[in-house]
Amino acid sequence: MDIRDQVVIVTGSGQGIGRGIAWEYAKREAIVIIAELQEQLGMALEHELLSAGYRAKFIQTDVTNVTQIELLVAQVIEEFGKIDTLVNNAGITIFKSIFDCTIEDWDKMMNTDLRSVFLLSKAVGKEMVKRKKGAIINIASNHVLATLPNTEMYAAAKSGVIGFTKSLALSLGDKGIRVNAISPGFMDTHHHRTWLTQFEQPDVVQAHINGLHATRRIGNPEEVGNMCVYLSSSMAKQMTGANIVLDGGLSTRLYTSQYE
Ligand SMILES: NC(=O)c1ccc[n+]([C@@H]2O[C@H](COP(=O)([O-])OP(=O)(O)OC[C@H]3O[C@@H](n4cnc5c(N)ncnc54)[C@H](O)[C@@H]3O)[C@@H](O)[C@H]2O)c1
Repeated sequence: MDIRDQVVIVTGSGQGIGRGIAWEYAKREAIVIIAELQEQLGMALEHELLSAGYRAKFIQTDVTNVTQIELLVAQVIEEFGKIDTLVNNAGITIFKSIFDCTIEDWDKMMNTDLRSVFLLSKAVGKEMVKRKKGAIINIASNHVLATLPNTEMYAAAKSGVIGFTKSLALSLGDKGIRVNAISPGFMDTHHHRTWLTQFEQPDVVQAHINGLHATRRIGNPEEVGNMCVYLSSSMAKQMTGANIVLDGGLSTRLYTSQYE
């Protein structure tokens, strides 16, 4: 796909899904900006991508900090002259009972998963408007379609991302900027593997989870990266305001029962 030489910012790309997204862009000869909070992770990915012969730059960024976001954008523009794609991927997960959730939890969740999308889209969007060109991709979640108990804050933040995506797509459509969301489901990341270790028989739990998917397996970060690459390319030029669900059919199931 024609994304060679694109300058692409991927937030939270030091590990997990973001890391997979960064690799998929790098492999297709884009210039990847690793906008990651954790220095060690960002440096390590930059080193790996450069060692593999790809182009990448780590710029330590806290997406909850407006000053750092402005510095990120200024630095990328100064060094590379443009931003073609912004992937708002950085996010945290706080799953607990509403009675245990504090205002600090709420603010942290919203600032990381939702306000960051607003701040980054605004700062990067201003640059994209100048060139009348760009793609913004927001990583939401299949929790926007169907959710679980004790995930209220996460479901609310991600649902906010979808509403934001749709409105921004309408606002920037005539300025050559497309805005889309991707909603992944279970992903094979270190978080998932750590989560499985709490169970006595992780293999049994994984087999059960796999069985809930139409594809009979969970997804992986590369697949999210491939979808991002597509959304950045001219193949997706009529695609904007969409929420692409990438969960192997998990959220299409009406209910789970032995009587189905
Ligand atoms: N893993 C899943 O199963 C799954 C499913 C659906 C959606 N998602 C979404 O995908 C995105 C990535 O999830 P993941 O599982 O890879 O998470 P992760 O925790 O493995 O990675 C998130 C990365 O974001 C970084 N980060 C956190 N706060 C940041 C901040 N303030 N500024 C900059 N970087 C920050 C972390 O350091 C980390 O490197 C999130 O938005 C998440 O909600 C994940």
